[in-house]
Amino acid sequence: MIKKCLFPAAGYGTRFLPATKSMPKEMMPIVNKPLIEYGVEEAIQAGMNGMCIVTGRGKNTLMDHFDKNYELEHQISGTNKEELLFDIRRVIDSAHFTYIRQGEMKGLGHAILVGRELVGNEPFAVVLADDLCVNEDQGVLAQMAALYKQFRCSIVAVEEVPAEDTHKYGVIAGQMIRDDLFRVDNMVEKPEPGTAPSNLAIIGRYILTPDIFDIIEDTEPGKGGEIQITDALLKQAQSGCVLAYKFKGKRFDCGSVDGYIEATNYCYENIYKKDQASKLAQQQTSKK
Ligand code: G1P
Repeated sequence: MIKKCLFPAAGYGTRFLPATKSMPKEMMPIVNKPLIEYGVEEAIQAGMNGMCIVTGRGKNTLMDHFDKNYELEHQISGTNKEELLFDIRRVIDSAHFTYIRQGEMKGLGHAILVGRELVGNEPFAVVLADDLCVNEDQGVLAQMAALYKQFRCSIVAVEEVPAEDTHKYGVIAGQMIRDDLFRVDNMVEKPEPGTAPSNLAIIGRYILTPDIFDIIEDTEPGKGGEIQITDALLKQAQSGCVLAYKFKGKRFDCGSVDGYIEATNYCYENIYKKDQASKLAQQQTSKK
């Protein structure tokens, strides 16, 4: 039912300089696949086919990645390397990609508002590609899309973090509806240490109803002088309903070097190696 997924991808990725000096941080590979491709695959698995990417200056390789490269296709067509392109071909064939540039960096709320032109007047998902989420069967966006069907309101994904880390996130407080679901009544963007309303931190997966755009337009700059989606969502929660969902699965903060290395090790062991083993097994059965 939710068809579009917005990827704010205009940020500079300063924590990874110099790697991100001329390469978008979303293109940093986790093993052999760029970060953003994991997010797009998660959205496709959740039944979405419209990938709306908010880019900025110096991000053209993002567009090239989700497009055919005829020269390369021609070069490796018919060789045993061709299968290395199967995943990305499947992604390109299952979705369409639209882009808009965020001219000025005025915060996540602003980036989402810039995406309005691409999303239109329908509920949509937001993926912050820095947060890599993995779950063996149902991805985090698919879990959230299923919840949306039931509740029809904005939903943020949350996870418990140590108290000393709450200042890095948007943090929610709310009424527990069931073990893994809260009705939000407070939300603070990057609270000062010791002032967080709980230890439930928002991670980079959202489902938003389109009335959020008008709310963002009326939202003053908040933390860091930026227009914060957290502030807009608090208004939406106060005038209607916003849910916070404790998702099933693992999440890695690939915006930090430690999280990036952890994600790489995890994906190498649990995704890449398994993939290789099953491809080998397939080749052996087809030879027989
Ligand atoms: C953004 C949001 C924050 C959220 C975080 C999740 O912050 O503003 O509320 O907790 O993403 O990754 P950023 O990490 O972009 O500073």
